[in-house]
Amino acid sequence: MASLSVFGAQWGDEGKGKIIDLLARDADFVVRYQGGSNAGHTVIVGEEKYVLHLIPSGILHPGKINVVANGVALDPLTFMDEVDGLRERGISVEASNLRLSTSAHVILDHHRKLDGLAETWRGVGRIGTTGRGIGPCYADKASRTGLRVADLLESKRCRERLSAALLEKNALFTHVHDADALDLEEQIEKYEAVGERLRPFVCDTGALLREAHAEGKSLLFEGAQGVMLDIDHGTYPYVTSSNTGANGIPSGSGFPARKVDRLVGIAKSYCTRVGEGAFPSEDQGEAGESLAREGHEFGSTTGRPRRCGWFDSVAVRYALELNGADGWIMTKLDILDSFETIRVGTSYVVDGEERMTWPVGCTDLEAIEVQYEELSGWQEDISAVRRYEDLPAATRAYVEWVEERVGAPILMLSVGPEREQVIPRGL
Ligand code: GDP
Ligand code: IMO
Ligand code: MG
Repeated sequence: MASLSVFGAQWGDEGKGKIIDLLARDADFVVRYQGGSNAGHTVIVGEEKYVLHLIPSGILHPGKINVVANGVALDPLTFMDEVDGLRERGISVEASNLRLSTSAHVILDHHRKLDGLAETWRGVGRIGTTGRGIGPCYADKASRTGLRVADLLESKRCRERLSAALLEKNALFTHVHDADALDLEEQIEKYEAVGERLRPFVCDTGALLREAHAEGKSLLFEGAQGVMLDIDHGTYPYVTSSNTGANGIPSGSGFPARKVDRLVGIAKSYCTRVGEGAFPSEDQGEAGESLAREGHEFGSTTGRPRRCGWFDSVAVRYALELNGADGWIMTKLDILDSFETIRVGTSYVVDGEERMTWPVGCTDLEAIEVQYEELSGWQEDISAVRRYEDLPAATRAYVEWVEERVGAPILMLSVGPEREQVIPRGL
């Protein structure tokens, strides 16, 4: 592996954490380049379960360098809690294996507060955000009123930037939202203190990655969320506030796009979504309930029940094409074990017309009608299978059929939450 990008090809929670942890064995660096603590990446190692929000999923492997790059919306309090939590569990987290960009924008108390208030004001148009302050932080980045990690490390600068930010935000809280203002001195003290804790980890991560690549080191880019939640290409406005696919790598990490050698999407054998917004293949009946039950579909970050539905080959093909993926990994194939029949969305009907492509520009995505095809299930436990040829014939038929509909090779199958529960197929 030279440089590999792994990203979610649905609406998040595709099993990225598990796969990144596995692939991290062959990487020297594991890099988060967008999103923030809205992400919840689950890694199971033996009896231990880790849910990582900000720290890359390579942290559980000794000797790997984990990088939180400039494109991440960094909540410094969550970051340090995560560092402390991992240390308490005996995982080594030091400046030698965790690096943080000087240029990452910082999520402050006022961003989290505003995230909640904005949702209340949106009323029926609410997005169902994770409430982690992601949108307001990226909005300030674009407005050029944000604070970056480097700003927390310099007392005078921290005071200046935070004073200016709070002047505006407190006016907004008190005059528009009828909410309490935040205390400037308290905020300065709090964030300067956490800045001191961040200091040992901070560096120019872009230079670090470019140098590492020049020295022949291998880099693994860990996407958060999924392509259908991408701010530009997802189901806007029901999206997150960053570029979630490989498209976020160059701006979010300072690593050149043309040097990413391989791009791999991740999608479940069915589909889920947390929060509001269009979900064409959602099943609100018995099948959706069974998928939720079998797949334990509860949010890793907020604990909310995930909406469930069938695999949507139109949306996954769009996500992979958009990012120029070399192929993809199908996760949670074992969750389909008990189904007598399995459905796959193969085309849409939009405004009375059948189409095979994602309807960019359609303002009423809720009205998409999905056309399904149905295949026989295998009704066997496949979680112990490790070689493709050992899978039941019906499982192989399903995999190959979906692969053909999506039009991109499936490079690995995942058949359980644990590291070793995978079936290689070219990766
Ligand atoms: P991420 O956000 O993409 O990292 O995914 P999450 O961790 O939020 O959700 C995926 C869930 O599925 C986690 O609980 C994983 O442990 C679990 N998981 C991942 N791959 C598989 C798989 O192949 N089979 C099963 N049964 N569970 C899986
Ligand atoms: P991982 O990395 C699933 C969703 C939220 C909401 C929308 C916007 O674990 O796959 P935000 O807080 O980002 O402003 O919320 O995006 N969302 C996710 N859904 N998995 C995630 O991350 C998500 N991160 C954000 O539920 O609908
Ligand atoms: Mg998740």
